[in-house]
Amino acid sequence: METIIIDGKKMSLQIQENLKKEIQTFERKPKLAVILVGDNPASLIYVANKKKIGEKIGAEAEVFQLSPVMTEDALISFIEELNQNDTVDGILVQLPLPPHFDENKVLATLDPNKDVDGLHPHNLGNLFISKTDLKPCTPLACLELIKSVLPSLEGKTALIIGRSRLVGKPLAQMLMAENCTVIQAHSKTKNMDEICKIADIVVAATGKPNLIQSSYIKKGAVLIDVGITRLDNKKITGDIDFESMLGIAGAITPVPGGVGPMTVTMLYVNLLNSYKKNFAKSLK
Ligand code: GUN
Repeated sequence: METIIIDGKKMSLQIQENLKKEIQTFERKPKLAVILVGDNPASLIYVANKKKIGEKIGAEAEVFQLSPVMTEDALISFIEELNQNDTVDGILVQLPLPPHFDENKVLATLDPNKDVDGLHPHNLGNLFISKTDLKPCTPLACLELIKSVLPSLEGKTALIIGRSRLVGKPLAQMLMAENCTVIQAHSKTKNMDEICKIADIVVAATGKPNLIQSSYIKKGAVLIDVGITRLDNKKITGDIDFESMLGIAGAITPVPGGVGPMTVTMLYVNLLNSYKKNFAKSLK
């Protein structure tokens, strides 16, 4: 069997091109505010990339790097000001926050209409009734990648390995809305290999390099690798043992070049949605 390598980079460039064209028709540039508290090295790279892609498509992306010793109240006031600022269409708080912040409380401060990460409890709650414009970016990316090789997901068995707020939990809702049978596995799941064997789709989001081996996989399954780990030899690797899957999986996303570029692109799909909503509101 020939395994399709799902080119997330190429797909993301195509979507970015469309977003760029759409922005050119807008009255003003949509603006994203990115809040980074402290200087976590991985977060610095993610945030710089978000800014770069935003500028490339003609949006404005302003990064506010705030002191890691600021108080939670000060961060909440900062977000409230951005909520009130009509020139800001989307706000993203880069996670993780330093340990003295209550992430749930901080995310709940965001204006749900500007929550381009889809992490406010209002938007996460709306996922349960399939009624939100702003869904978390990584699950959106996973769904697009899956649909590029499986146009109909109805009746497929999808295994999600991971139950985080950013990926696993929201993705389960989104795949159920597509009429998949969803199995949610996590670090305490027993018999992972047996469960993998029945899955038509496997999404791995654990951060454990090469956790998923080819002996676990049903022939022809679609594999989506959300994991991204930098090994001691500096090589970036995912949760799925990529090489061993060739000839066994029906399709697989590479790391890098799969979920990563699509996730940043989905952020700007969300930004354009919130721009359109906020701009229409300002005309009323
Ligand atoms: N940290 C790692 N990934 C993400 C993401 O998608 N959004 C936010 N806010 N923080 C992250």
